[in-house]
Amino acid sequence: MIDFLALAKKYGTPLYVYDFDAMQAQYEALKEAFKGRKSILAYAIKANSNISVIQHFATLGAGADCVSIGEVRRALLAGVAPYKIIFSGVGKRDDEIQEALASNILYINVESDAELSRVELIAKRLGMAARISIRVNPNIDPKTHPYISTGLHDNKFGVDINTAKRMYLRANNSEYLDPIGIHFHIGSQLTELEPIREAAIIVADLVRSLQTVNIDLKFFDIGGGLGIRYRDEETIEPYEYAQAILSTLTALELTVVCEPGRFLTANAGYFLTKVLYEKCHDHKRFVIVDGAMNDLLRPSLYGAYHRIEVIGKEDVEPTVADIVGPVCESGDFLAKSYPLPSLEHNDLLIVHSAGAYGFGMGSNYNTRGRSAEVAVENTKSRLIRQRESFEDLIALETPYLKR
Ligand code: LLP
Repeated sequence: MIDFLALAKKYGTPLYVYDFDAMQAQYEALKEAFKGRKSILAYAIKANSNISVIQHFATLGAGADCVSIGEVRRALLAGVAPYKIIFSGVGKRDDEIQEALASNILYINVESDAELSRVELIAKRLGMAARISIRVNPNIDPKTHPYISTGLHDNKFGVDINTAKRMYLRANNSEYLDPIGIHFHIGSQLTELEPIREAAIIVADLVRSLQTVNIDLKFFDIGGGLGIRYRDEETIEPYEYAQAILSTLTALELTVVCEPGRFLTANAGYFLTKVLYEKCHDHKRFVIVDGAMNDLLRPSLYGAYHRIEVIGKEDVEPTVADIVGPVCESGDFLAKSYPLPSLEHNDLLIVHSAGAYGFGMGSNYNTRGRSAEVAVENTKSRLIRQRESFEDLIALETPYLKR
């Protein structure tokens, strides 16, 4: 059990707390599910890019799925082996492609014909063959929130099957391109297996048809997306997930690459915030806390539900309240109509499932410094990112002062 009250006292609030033991358990459960097949779990750094978190997974043997050269640098800095690093994303700059190639990462996930040309050109300049994978958009509805759905032709991601085929043929004929993988990612927070299975069938068929023209891929990259329980969702068990994928790969000698983000970190993270005030408008109750949308954006952006817990008031009858932050936006809330006991100044709220897309989606809006981050491992806590100060916030500004 994590002593949240003690952590809030020691490090202050708002505060992110990550349970490193829980992260490890999630990693091991997923790795175990793919047992019997070569696999790389390339942690999707965007979910939580704190260097200590990446380092924690790297120590367990994880690779990294990166979507900017900044994330590639973080992965390398955290000790992820270059041959387990993947660089994805729909819009890579030339300098990013060049640095990724020079860093000798496993492969670049190419998302368009035009991008393939840029990668080829840059590889030629560097005098090398770029290892690539092509992101296929299988046009499958993943049945998740539209903002985090990516596998439909309406979404900007990847290329259709026919374009992918053409691109593989082209890459195979180029001295500067080495097509070694295939990739798909249909969306995030997936709680239904069928769309994943359908996508895998389509992509595995493409692998087979490429074999007939002597293009032998080595990596079958299934993206991320495995959902977690925020409230009462039925989720997919890692074993069922792995079986659904593996059953589409019969007779194919491929290493499975999986890019989990949320599954590894979400439920291992907590956001701690303290009550500032309570107030009522007519009958509407507001609990105003010191954490806000700049710290945890998911409720404001997606209407996402996060369970909220108050310690030490279990006996007090709850009534509903909107839990809101100090930011000057009506959309600044952590929860709406949430049952809570009556609260006092400095009472601590624990926001659950905050370990993925929490801190990373934070901002400095309203000149608010971002929260500190703390890791708890084997009952010991450790500060892994300091709270931002006002000086940190203005450090890059160059005021033009007229005297
Ligand atoms: N691989 C690719 C290519 C991705 O685009 C993503 C997530 C992942 C892996 C990791 O997905 P995960 O396993 O975490 O579902 N901010 C949103 C989620 C955006 C996900 C973007 N891509 C949220 O807070 O729900």
